[in-house]
Amino acid sequence: MDKLIHHWGNGLTRRHAFKGLAGFLAGSTLLHGQQDVFRDHSRSPGLAELTSSFDFEPIAYAKLPRGVFNYTAYGSGGEFTLRRNRAAFDWVQLVPRGLAGVTAIDTSTEVCGTKMAFPIMVAPTAAHVALFPEGEAATHVGCTNASDTPMIISANASLPVDKIAESASGPLWYQLYPRQQPEANRPLLETAQQAGCQAIVVTVDQQAAYYERRLHDRHLLNSATRARRATRGAGSPYRIAGFRSWYDWKLFHDLRPMIQVPMLAKGVLTAEDARLCVEHGVEGIVVSNHGGRALDHSPSSLEVLPEIVDAVAGRIPVIVDSGFRRGSDVLKALALGASAVCFGRAPRYGLASFGADGVQKVLEILQGELVLAMAQTGRPNLASIDSSLVRTDFA
Ligand SMILES: Cc1cc2nc3c(=O)[nH]c(=O)nc-3n(C[C@H](O)[C@H](O)[C@H](O)COP(=O)(O)O)c2cc1C
Repeated sequence: MDKLIHHWGNGLTRRHAFKGLAGFLAGSTLLHGQQDVFRDHSRSPGLAELTSSFDFEPIAYAKLPRGVFNYTAYGSGGEFTLRRNRAAFDWVQLVPRGLAGVTAIDTSTEVCGTKMAFPIMVAPTAAHVALFPEGEAATHVGCTNASDTPMIISANASLPVDKIAESASGPLWYQLYPRQQPEANRPLLETAQQAGCQAIVVTVDQQAAYYERRLHDRHLLNSATRARRATRGAGSPYRIAGFRSWYDWKLFHDLRPMIQVPMLAKGVLTAEDARLCVEHGVEGIVVSNHGGRALDHSPSSLEVLPEIVDAVAGRIPVIVDSGFRRGSDVLKALALGASAVCFGRAPRYGLASFGADGVQKVLEILQGELVLAMAQTGRPNLASIDSSLVRTDFA
């Protein structure tokens, strides 16, 4: 019996219980000493801590379902053009001038009749509600709060144009994916113009319907459905969506009578097409490869910008997008002849991270970076920016 009592008091069972309790406490964050001293690395930073547009991307990644994040992030095919869009900025150096009297920097401009405090706009991108519940309405609020940044509403917006328009007061443009039957465009264009859109941007690039990264993420059902849809009907024997392969220059003549505001073409990548735009009554060009989502292995927008600016010879404004993430990127494009720059993914990541406040913050970071870059290169206003500001070494 003595032996038994001794066992009960000092035996394995009790020792095991104590060991288990000690182990639990050791692994528990209830004990201050056990808290992860590096825990700050695993929390999402707050809005005030973010200093560049790149900072928003990982927050959007953390907040969004994988498929929604990738819908924003990926490019077409092997993503050569997506990568080249960023790489091209490394091939342009900024050459500073000193003693230029840059105590006041004026970034204001006017493009296609729209006044802008900065030569920065938000590109048309689809389906903002997937990123943030208030969708494009929140984007518009963010744009308006960031010195009335013009926002181009996508033809594939998730909210009706008039709902977006009534959410804030900043300038709006509208992007059209043209319909083959000319009259089918009329209601879309009327709605947009009645809602106050100050320009119509006609997207003409052939956006690929196939993103390999979707397949890598095992969104197999989705990609199979899209591939089927893209190749079905409308006489499209390849993977370009059939509803876009009919585009020709007659398009602009059909649309012109329905548009009372400036009409722009988005997706131009050659000097020849830029010249044809002018000949066919287009009043502004957006040099764009759709952020690397159209033809993979097409050149970056920045590389083709100078030849397009030359071809247009000041007759119409040349806007540019694809790959822009910094204010200094904007300055490089202005030096190469652009009138303004559109941002697609950067404000999307802002919206996904913090809603309207995130959009506003992304834009204000870009605006601040542009002012800084102008001051550092000795250019007090947009008129003082010319090609002597850059040295290009496009690979
Ligand atoms: C998720 C996503 C959706 C887009 N949707 C459209 C669209 O509906 N219409 C359009 O003309 N361009 C669309 N674009 C292209 C953008 O207008 C713009 O050309 C591109 O995003 C610029 O590149 P960046 O994202 O590197 O700034 C989309 C781009 C992204 C990333």
